[in-house]
Amino acid sequence: MTAAALAAVDDRLAHAATPAPEAYGGAAYAQEIERVFRRGWISIARVDQLAKPGDYLSVDLFGEPLVAVRDRAGELRVLSRVCRHRAMAVVEGCGNRSSFQCPYHLWTFGLDGALLGAPHMEQAAGFDRAAVRLPALRTEVWQGWVFVNFDAAAPSLAAELEPLTARLAPWKIDAMRTLEPMVYDSPWNWKILVENFMESYHHAGIHPDTLQPYFPAATTYAEDVSGPFAILRNPARDRSQPVISLLPPIDGLTLEERTEFLVGAVFPFHLFSVAPDHVLWYRIEPHDAERFTLRIYPCVPAASAADTVAIEQMRAFIDHIHQQDIRVCDSVQKGLRSRFAGRGRYSHLEKALWQFHRFLAQRLAA
Ligand code: FES
Ligand SMILES: [Fe+2]
Repeated sequence: MTAAALAAVDDRLAHAATPAPEAYGGAAYAQEIERVFRRGWISIARVDQLAKPGDYLSVDLFGEPLVAVRDRAGELRVLSRVCRHRAMAVVEGCGNRSSFQCPYHLWTFGLDGALLGAPHMEQAAGFDRAAVRLPALRTEVWQGWVFVNFDAAAPSLAAELEPLTARLAPWKIDAMRTLEPMVYDSPWNWKILVENFMESYHHAGIHPDTLQPYFPAATTYAEDVSGPFAILRNPARDRSQPVISLLPPIDGLTLEERTEFLVGAVFPFHLFSVAPDHVLWYRIEPHDAERFTLRIYPCVPAASAADTVAIEQMRAFIDHIHQQDIRVCDSVQKGLRSRFAGRGRYSHLEKALWQFHRFLAQRLAA
């Protein structure tokens, strides 16, 4: 039922129906891990979180313990952090190291994954130290985000996102500073948040005091794109003068760019928004069909990073808006478990959702 339920998304938005409630359950989630998550590009870090040789960051993706690290030569890598001896994690958390020494029996791996030392292994017949290394995953950096892919045959991310790269150039996202995240335990299917993030149809209902007065739902629209991504534009009500921002606007933006914000997704779940003075990265770490951790990272131009007062105000505003969205996601998760839940219809304001569901349907059917 699960792949089929999603595969039925009509290729005409005006005729399409939203996914069946079964698409949000455990069986569908297991399929998504195999066919979508392990074949897609997943963002796990920002390059400035791994600025110096030896900087590392542990992350678990769908049960896979990984570590992102900048090696001595300055190259970024994402390695399995499962020890090649008897599978303990060679490292946890984040920090800076010159090598990874497994705490269990003290095998030592270089930052490039090579085995450097393995005590008391001289009697193991034919043990070839040079053949032992932590497996590396495919990694690409895009706009300052470090992405990984479990699929060695997946198309290059840079090639898939080429139209988006040019589109985002004015904001210079790759040079931004990544600030401390705001962390939310999120007891919902991951798609509920992606769907909430990718439409502004709900500004009038859910954000009547925060977003609707400045970025009205009715004038938002998703661009026509071809690729595993979506861009939703949110024009300001008044386009004659720049919107007021807490931080100084990014240098060189046009009046058009200073009178809207963009919401972006690289499917399956790299989510970001682009405002005239900052970018937000919504990092989803799925745990099961009905739970993930959400980390919201503000990213700002280097010159703005020291403005702690404005940044605290910005955080409070982001949290306020997210609390409004939490109310929605809590209720939708409960609603999708109802025996009376069914397939809905899309508004034209939900085109990016339909693009997302079409992407999922294609991947699940493949
Ligand atoms: S499990 Fe890592 S050294 Fe034994
Ligand atoms: Fe919202």
